[in-house]
Amino acid sequence: MTPTIELKPTATPLSDTAREAILTAPGFGRHFTDHMVTIKWTEGRGWHEAQLVPYAPLSLDPANMTLHYAQTIFEGLKAYRRPDGSVATFRPEANAERFQRSARRLAMPELPVETFVAACDALVRQDKAWVPAHGEASLYLRPFMIATEVGLGVKPANEYLFVVIASPAGAYFPGGVQPVSVWLSEDYVRAVKGGTGAAKTGGNYAASLVAQAEAAAKGCDQVVWLDAVEHRWVEEMGGMNLYFVYGDHIVTPELSGSLLPGITRDSLLTLARDLGYTAEERRISTEEWRRDTEEGRLTEVFACGTAAVITPVGTVKSAGAEWTQGDGTPGTVTMRLREGLLGLQSGAVADTHGWMHEL
Ligand code: PLP
Ligand code: COI
Repeated sequence: MTPTIELKPTATPLSDTAREAILTAPGFGRHFTDHMVTIKWTEGRGWHEAQLVPYAPLSLDPANMTLHYAQTIFEGLKAYRRPDGSVATFRPEANAERFQRSARRLAMPELPVETFVAACDALVRQDKAWVPAHGEASLYLRPFMIATEVGLGVKPANEYLFVVIASPAGAYFPGGVQPVSVWLSEDYVRAVKGGTGAAKTGGNYAASLVAQAEAAAKGCDQVVWLDAVEHRWVEEMGGMNLYFVYGDHIVTPELSGSLLPGITRDSLLTLARDLGYTAEERRISTEEWRRDTEEGRLTEVFACGTAAVITPVGTVKSAGAEWTQGDGTPGTVTMRLREGLLGLQSGAVADTHGWMHEL
């Protein structure tokens, strides 16, 4: 059953001037709104105590299980300001469903889809003033769940806390829509079949950091993960899926069981067709990536995700090779898809798929 979200005394909001100063250059994930939603789950009782409360630190026992065994999952979705001033989120039910799949993989309780959406709605309504003006900026919502049982035995916890926080978001990469350089990781793998790669769980990101540091040491912005067995099939990037542009045909690595099924990736399969392109999910190897680029068939590569939107890939480096996509500037197909997606999300373009959830 969906618990009703109870509004506790509202926070003293940040002053309009201070908030507006943040909204002019929000960056990514550095500032948080005035409130948050919390909902508890206890074995035998289920979901209860749904509250909208002032944003505040959580108090955790040092023996809290999450701190030791990482039973934690999260989501990322955005609320956009439309030209008429109203606010809408993009496909929140899809995030709610992925949150349920992540919960199953991590042996955590599943939050009903309607509760997930109601929690996001309640926070956005309360902190609406934090949704940036119509345009590319947005309010990024970060729903997450942690185990709250205290103890050092390794087992699924018997109590959990679901929280939603919100953060105004500008460009994820400091360079904006400039192409990013990528490092094809051979020493490290992100995930294996049967592992947690298809779940949005903290451990995947912790395990990626050393590879991300290696990419930086090689002069690259991001790491590209390859499959864990043959080290040749392209999987995804740190927090983004990948698309390969062959003229009017776009290709994304098929869902292998170890890469994250991105909602942006999924939306682009449809949006690309709306814009007159053909779209395909299939395996793609690093040899094809290099060969097809050198032979001029593979014209653009881009990364996509909620935080990163659509970001072109420029230079590609691996232990034995280096090449550049196109002339190193954002490609036309990449930019057309980007405009199409952002136009739909921000309400500038008609939402023919019913993806926007109005508040
Ligand atoms: N891959 C990983 C590892 C991610 O963390 C994300 C971000 O959420 C994505 C892909 C893109 O998914 P989405 O488009 O749902 O944001
Ligand atoms: C998102 O795009 O929502 C993500 O979760 C990516 C994250 C690593 C910032």
